[in-house]
Amino acid sequence: MASSSGIESILHENRIFPPAPEFSAAAHVKTMAEYEALCRRADQDPEAFWESVARELHWFQPWTKVLEWNAPFAKWFNGGKINLSYNCLDRHLSTARRNKAAIIWESEPGEVVTLTYQQLHGEVCRFTNVLKSAGVNTGDRVAIYMGMSPALPIAMLACARLGAPHTVVFGGFSAVALADRIQDCRASCVITQDGAIRRGAELKLKAIVDEALLSCPTVKRAIVYRRTGSPQQMQPGRDLWWHEEMSRASDECEALPLDAEHPLYLLYTSGTTGKPKGILHTTGGYSVGTYATTKWVFDLKETDVYWCTADIGWVTGHSYLVYGPLQNGATVLMYEGAPFTPTPDRFWIMIDKHKVNVFYTAPTAIRSFMRLGDEHPRKYAMKSLRLLGSVGEPINPEAWMWYRDVIGRNRCPIVDTWWQTETGAIMISPLPGATPTKPGSATRPLPGIAADVVDREGNPVPPGSGGFLVVKKPWPSMLRTIYGDPERFRQTYFSQIPGIYFTGDGARKDSDGYFWVMGRIDDVLNVSGHRLSTMEVESALVAHPKVAEAAVVGRPDEIKGQALAAFVTLQAGVPATNELKDELRAWVAKEIGAMARPDDIRFSEALPKTRSGKIMRRLLREVATGAEVKGDVTTLEDFNVISKLRAQEEE
Ligand code: PRX
Repeated sequence: MASSSGIESILHENRIFPPAPEFSAAAHVKTMAEYEALCRRADQDPEAFWESVARELHWFQPWTKVLEWNAPFAKWFNGGKINLSYNCLDRHLSTARRNKAAIIWESEPGEVVTLTYQQLHGEVCRFTNVLKSAGVNTGDRVAIYMGMSPALPIAMLACARLGAPHTVVFGGFSAVALADRIQDCRASCVITQDGAIRRGAELKLKAIVDEALLSCPTVKRAIVYRRTGSPQQMQPGRDLWWHEEMSRASDECEALPLDAEHPLYLLYTSGTTGKPKGILHTTGGYSVGTYATTKWVFDLKETDVYWCTADIGWVTGHSYLVYGPLQNGATVLMYEGAPFTPTPDRFWIMIDKHKVNVFYTAPTAIRSFMRLGDEHPRKYAMKSLRLLGSVGEPINPEAWMWYRDVIGRNRCPIVDTWWQTETGAIMISPLPGATPTKPGSATRPLPGIAADVVDREGNPVPPGSGGFLVVKKPWPSMLRTIYGDPERFRQTYFSQIPGIYFTGDGARKDSDGYFWVMGRIDDVLNVSGHRLSTMEVESALVAHPKVAEAAVVGRPDEIKGQALAAFVTLQAGVPATNELKDELRAWVAKEIGAMARPDDIRFSEALPKTRSGKIMRRLLREVATGAEVKGDVTTLEDFNVISKLRAQEEE
């Protein structure tokens, strides 16, 4: 269906699944009427609504004002003093949760380590003291480049305790990408580990840090956690062993009362330019948002074992592996390794072994499991499961139905949660005890979230029409700015439709008010749930000495959601060979990380451009998809280009 926004929506899905009465009866929110009452309350007086949620947390000092909104800059709970590490840990120590498992960690080789809330608290206090004696002060930025070891949440919670904003860089990023991020936030300390174990092999993280630090003069200290025991070159005066420092540190350390707007963390994410943006989250609002959404959406019960499979290097791991569940006093299962190691049924074995109740994963993983065959999950009872979640990309109805049937045994509700690094917390999602679900729809906005689908002028589009997904009112866990670049923040998120937060996604609402998110409408791609900018990959390609020009577009991929297709023009005289394609793929992996390695590379003598010199990406997308090029080519400079690019498909 066409609309005034020019975004077309083609997906139609009529199946509907109400929650089972037993599930609803035990849920925090039991009916749509209750959900709607919450939404009305939040709509009529958002500040009173969020204030009542905030009161469920511990504050050293109450706020004086709930919201100060000078669009696009928000201050939530100003005047309040809070500490997220305190709310994740100390708050539970005076209750029966003291001896409850906070984190159950399973390594890829199969070792299990359990940390109770009390033990985790001790480790975090100890490491906060280590940071202090390493010269890290409140306000200093700390970069964390680790694998999925228990030391990673300990490091984050210690930073939060001290008010030293962390920036976790996903372990798959290259030395170049790590250095870019460290330089951007001028971190003074890096926390890493010798190596991470993935698919039975060691990824040598410390060596990558060493390479990155050659161009990071702000870093004075590197703290190295020993995971694999592989030999390390420690740089005297800079590098410290985690275990040595921890053995000397006290396990007592008061959590600092921090301003509600004190920076909590930066997380770099791809935008429409080559330079990643440091998304800034602050303490109070983010705490409130992640606490409340974890409780509502995952409907946590005191006895639940909750498993989020995301890597902590991405926002899902921050909000729904660490901060949201720990504030709720949950037991979190954390897994170090790859999903198919050593066998394709690793996840299902783990679900039965740990009696997982709530399971939160990504559509790419679900599609990979589908392809591996039903026989793997079918071998396991998985009776403990009661709720399934999906995040990171649109889930196609087929994958949704498979998830419900083969994993959830048609018994567990599915929460398809739409949100972003920028939103900090889930924005659109079913409440599992209340919302009837439709396969492929994230359903309706959570209470207090003013999401809508609008046209270019900001007017709501009629039901069924595609448009821009926006959020019309500020919410507590929203990003506060792009680190060091408030103008880019305003420009990126609040200028498309002035004064209103634009998500970068296209969506439609159906006649029940359900949202169907269609994916990015800018130059951001979602490859296996990893957010990548086409510009970032293009700048990596043109930095190669043999490349003159490059254009990167997405094409649909059955498993990964989207795949990367690169069109490359070589410098004069450079022969176009298959070896060079491999070289360029490896080059991009080195510049950005393996997840950005192009799936297809096509060489071309020229790229299709308009007469004014703009690359015609729409045409390239059609070529990459193998579709008939039927777009408007009247402004195309050289018609030959398209036929030459298409000719390569047959090669
Ligand atoms: O396009 C949307 C997609 O992922 C983008 C955000 O990516 P990132 O900041 O990396 O955060 C991912 C984890 C929250 C969004 O702009 N996206 C995320 N969740 C969904 C989704 N698209 C459709 N349905 C979802 N449930």
